[in-house]
Amino acid sequence: MSNQQTYNVAVVGATGAVGRKMLETLEKRQFPINELKLLSSKRSAGKTLTYNNQTYTVEEATPESFEGIDIALFSAGGGVSKKFAPEAVKRGAVVVDNTSAYRMDGNVPLVVPEVNEADIKDHKGIIANPNCSTIQMVAALQPLKAKYGLKRIIVSTYQAVSGSGAEAIEELKTQTEDFLNGDDMKAELLPVKGEDKHYPIAFNALPQIDVFTDNGYTFEEMKMINETKKIMHDETINVAATCVRLPVFTSHAESVYVELDDTPSVEEIKTLLASSDGVTLQDKPEEQIYPTPLAAAGLPDVFVGRIRKDLNQENGYHMWIVSDNLLKGAAWNSVQIAESLVKNHWL
Ligand SMILES: NC(=O)c1ccc[n+]([C@@H]2O[C@H](COP(=O)([O-])OP(=O)(O)OC[C@H]3O[C@@H](n4cnc5c(N)ncnc54)[C@H](OP(=O)(O)O)[C@@H]3O)[C@@H](O)[C@H]2O)c1
Repeated sequence: MSNQQTYNVAVVGATGAVGRKMLETLEKRQFPINELKLLSSKRSAGKTLTYNNQTYTVEEATPESFEGIDIALFSAGGGVSKKFAPEAVKRGAVVVDNTSAYRMDGNVPLVVPEVNEADIKDHKGIIANPNCSTIQMVAALQPLKAKYGLKRIIVSTYQAVSGSGAEAIEELKTQTEDFLNGDDMKAELLPVKGEDKHYPIAFNALPQIDVFTDNGYTFEEMKMINETKKIMHDETINVAATCVRLPVFTSHAESVYVELDDTPSVEEIKTLLASSDGVTLQDKPEEQIYPTPLAAAGLPDVFVGRIRKDLNQENGYHMWIVSDNLLKGAAWNSVQIAESLVKNHWL
């Protein structure tokens, strides 16, 4: 019999797009769970979900849900994290939060393990999981930063609807069917739930993810800018982002331009990325090999291809970065943090 220590784990938002992937990932990794608690809003309380061939009944999250919990994985929206994460911490749990509620809080580490795993040990009960589009970008760029120095990033994203949750996946399906049947498409959710205007996502591209901020950038774009600096511990990197939603179900793609301090060859960059943790190089233009969202879906890695030198800027490089937004962008990164808490005795 194994005498491995096991932990009481709560998944908050277990019925959501990220929550379901969280369960799949915990199961795949055989995370050492003693008791598992699946939490949602009142709407889904009583539903059942399967974990390790066992049926679990989903419960409505309340402060008391966190009694005896060691690790709580939150992905139920920022408001839910603001309300319940402190309650979980008060009861002795360590929270890994997928929402934007605490990401820029100076007391909360914001972690992509391939970049800044050591920050986890400074936690005071909450560790934030970065925005999905930020995670895949910094995971691919950190090896370049460490070896060649990183001055500037200009990124344009091509983001999947699952980044907006389970309802957005349904909206894309329904609109696609309606369009192909010759019916009117109803747009009720995207680009942003609760905003005045909605546009169809099927057969379209929407240059708005999250609400606009005063400087003309969207909140999603500002997340990429601010979170990158925090995760990489470098306020001097110049970052600009344009975030676009596409009619893709899973995996975000990003066209990324970087300026380095140094001027390595493309071959040197490929060799470095090919041996970097969590990164898979897919870059053989002569064989039409490059990453795509469909091929990346369901896989944990960050895929990089199309690496080219800029034609005018000596230290400028272009690349294409793709990853499953629900895995490395959310569930897998959270479970990696939970595994690190356990492995390093940082709970
Ligand atoms: N999708 C992504 O790629 C991604 C990536 C990183 C981070 N995130 C963040 O993760 C969070 C969840 O995203 P998602 O895509 O999984 O959304 P989703 O599919 O809409 O799921 C939302 C989940 O939150 C639960 N919930 C809603 N209100 C609640 C409440 N008052 N109390 C307890 N649970 C409640 C829902 O339960 P019911 O079933 O009861 O409604 C559901 O389980 C968001 O903050 C999002 O920004 C998402």
